[in-house]
Amino acid sequence: MATTIAVLSQKGGTGKTTTVRTLADVLARIDIDVLAVDLDPQGNLSDYFDVPADATPTVADVLDGRVRAIDAVHDGVLPANLGLAESEVILGGKMGREMTLKRALREAKRRYDLILIDCPPSLGLLTVNALVAADYALLSTEAQYFSLQGVEQALELIELATESLHPDLEWLGVVLNIADLRTVHSREALQQLRERFDGKVFDAVIRQSIRYAESAERGVSIVDYRPELGADYLALADEVLERVGFDDERERLRALRSELVPA
Ligand SMILES: Nc1ncnc2c1ncn2[C@@H]1O[C@H](COP(=O)(O)OP(=O)(O)O)[C@@H](O)[C@H]1O
Ligand SMILES: [Mg+2]
Repeated sequence: MATTIAVLSQKGGTGKTTTVRTLADVLARIDIDVLAVDLDPQGNLSDYFDVPADATPTVADVLDGRVRAIDAVHDGVLPANLGLAESEVILGGKMGREMTLKRALREAKRRYDLILIDCPPSLGLLTVNALVAADYALLSTEAQYFSLQGVEQALELIELATESLHPDLEWLGVVLNIADLRTVHSREALQQLRERFDGKVFDAVIRQSIRYAESAERGVSIVDYRPELGADYLALADEVLERVGFDDERERLRALRSELVPA
């Protein structure tokens, strides 16, 4: 059964989609069968996977019950487009609305090793569906003044989901993303995060760089475009694999790391 990880934050622009995209890329390179699920009507993740905006079926058709998830996968991604916003509204009026994605992914869970869900930039029903469908919740946060508050809000949602819908859901941790550790401000944000959440903060910090925008524009993974920056994601992938107990895969990742980023 696939281990399922929902990547979420309380707002947009915290690096969620880049995280899902890059982790999916890195983990596929070490022979993990990864399914990426785009649960954001903006469809950024689908863009990264080069799925055209008008491609069908999408995750919206899956949530509507028209198509099986495994029949809506395009090149490793279950895509989304603006139609998902409408599906979310319809979903809101249905029985079992929080469980819909979980049910829809049942078959996919048998076929893949790992499922990564890219959440929309809010803590609404789609994000709740992602949490209920997941085994783990991974928080992404920017190094901004209000970011600690955002993490607290996302954590509250995780706790609510755990209490009322999904007792086995685990909080995998929080990653500081798009961080410029040369600024005092970012370093303080990291320190605050570590003081507040101790062992839950990933050691890996994803550094801010204009190269991410460039690599996205060119459709090249940061791991190939700028391996020295991609190293941040290789380090994060290693910690994620450790926390979900993929030990053999960590061995393979070690080999990939020394190939991509020679010491
Ligand atoms: N480490 C980074 N450094 C600089 N820019 C980044 C980094 N990671 C992502 N970005 C850029 O920041 C923007 C938001 O990232 P994205 O992953 O789309 O966040 P979210 O999915 O949380 O909205 C995008 O334009 C992306 O290219
Ligand atoms: Mg996004």
